Amino acid sequence: MKKQGVDPSVTLFYPAPVVLVTCSRKGEDPNIITIAWTGVVSSEPPTVGIAIRPGRHSHELVDSSKEFAINFPKMGDLKKVDFCGVASGKKVNKFEKCGYTSFKGKEIHTPLIKECPVNLECVVTDALDLGSHTLFLGKVVAAHVDEELWKDETLNVMEAQPLVYLPPTAQYVSLGSVLGRYSLSRGRL
Ligand SMILES: Cc1cc2nc3c(=O)[nH]c(=O)nc-3n(C[C@H](O)[C@H](O)[C@H](O)COP(=O)(O)O)c2cc1C
Repeated sequence: MKKQGVDPSVTLFYPAPVVLVTCSRKGEDPNIITIAWTGVVSSEPPTVGIAIRPGRHSHELVDSSKEFAINFPKMGDLKKVDFCGVASGKKVNKFEKCGYTSFKGKEIHTPLIKECPVNLECVVTDALDLGSHTLFLGKVVAAHVDEELWKDETLNVMEAQPLVYLPPTAQYVSLGSVLGRYSLSRGRL
């Protein structure tokens, strides 16, 4: 197959996870922002990264509180996920507009989203100004999983109905079928 040179762009990087990041500051409504530029950056200590553009309301909140939570939405929440990615918490209370129920975490003040099957509480350990976005690194200090999805000491992730984003075409998709398991090349199925 012949290759074509194209402009270098991060929007060619696919697929991307879609998460709902909650953030807050004392005396203000908590906020929700949809984030696709996110991922695991270290296993020990457990650390994730989220990249937020300066100017967004959530940037201000995470920068000043030094904490955030990652909430994994179900694919059925697509409209809410998209709404939290186009509306600003400067103007609307996204918890109220989406009808989301908040619950208290164990280690941070920022509330988490009950309707999301998995929630990670994170404390900011570093913030790197990388250009268009600030990369906030967050140590995962507590985690919550819907009871019925926790089987044999692990998350039944397919039942969590993950939502995935395709940056090149700005499309949301669901996952297909399971194709195999890590180390299948060694005969593990
Ligand atoms: C699918 C999707 C992914 C997004 N990913 C990011 C991201 O990774 N970083 C970012 O700064 N904004 C991202 N956005 C845009 C913000 O979610 C959007 O600007 C939001 O309205 C900001 O809310 P706030 O002003 O309440 O912080 C994304 C939006 C969508 C719809």
